[in-house]
Amino acid sequence: MPVALITGASTGIGREFARICARDGYDLVLTARSLPQLESLASEIRGSAGHTVHVFAKDLSNPAASAELHDELSRAGLSIDLLINNAGFGLVGKFWELDEAAQMEMIRLNIGALTHLSRLFLPGFIQRRSGGILNVASTAAFQPGPLMAVYYATKAYVVSFSEALHNEARDYGVTVTTLCPGPTRTEFDKRAGASATRLFKSGRTMDARSVAQIGWDAFKRGKSLVVAGRLNAAMGFLTRFASRQLAASMARRFSQPE
Ligand SMILES: NC(=O)c1ccc[n+]([C@@H]2O[C@H](COP(=O)([O-])OP(=O)(O)OC[C@H]3O[C@@H](n4cnc5c(N)ncnc54)[C@H](OP(=O)(O)O)[C@@H]3O)[C@@H](O)[C@H]2O)c1
Repeated sequence: MPVALITGASTGIGREFARICARDGYDLVLTARSLPQLESLASEIRGSAGHTVHVFAKDLSNPAASAELHDELSRAGLSIDLLINNAGFGLVGKFWELDEAAQMEMIRLNIGALTHLSRLFLPGFIQRRSGGILNVASTAAFQPGPLMAVYYATKAYVVSFSEALHNEARDYGVTVTTLCPGPTRTEFDKRAGASATRLFKSGRTMDARSVAQIGWDAFKRGKSLVVAGRLNAAMGFLTRFASRQLAASMARRFSQPE
């Protein structure tokens, strides 16, 4: 059976990816920091789908963690066919007031681990001329994000990087797909301090299962990029016609308390 490695699988969109991949016939390698949540998801999936599920607790913001994970999987004889780079977090607040260590951690996770894992696993996919990567970005990628400046910038990186990889890898039968969710009901807003913002109070949040399914369907069709939800897609499209400064002002309004 093909094997999917999913980062950030302990909650939210990553947990739904795990359930969807299992339903679609994948064995799983699940990673995040919270071991009990990973174990509980693993036993749910083993029980319902009868798949092999491996769990590796890792803090992927640690610069050594991606290589450690790759080595541990090699030693266990596990070959990965699909990498879902989903782990990530955001923070709301003025750039110069937010915790500096947490901001650097965000860059190491949202950009560093995603890039390093792609670099470690892609050569195998290219060599075998099969497999793929599904990277989770955000609609935040499409404009500057005052009050979430670092987060929006990390997601702009993910889109740019992933679209370039899609172009490089497609000649080798390897798909790289980027999923851009809008506000989604997960642990994200609580962790980011964003629960009281217009973005999450707007009543237009989506559920994690639908968002993961949209990403999965796009990956299966070999698409380069998909925005989750018609409204988010429409807003992303309209943003292209606004000036960068107007788009930044609109994003700022959404990151303020309602
Ligand atoms: N929810 C939204 O509104 C939204 C919108 C656009 C994009 N996204 C993106 O969607 C992705 C999934 O987020 P989510 O919404 O599902 O939020 P979530 O429920 O908070 O899930 C985030 C996942 O990342 C893991 N994670 C966080 N820090 C980690 C670290 N240092 N090392 C390893 N794993 C770590 C968490 O597990 P542990 O805490 O157990 O480590 C968790 O499994 C993220 O990339 C996020 O930026 C979310």
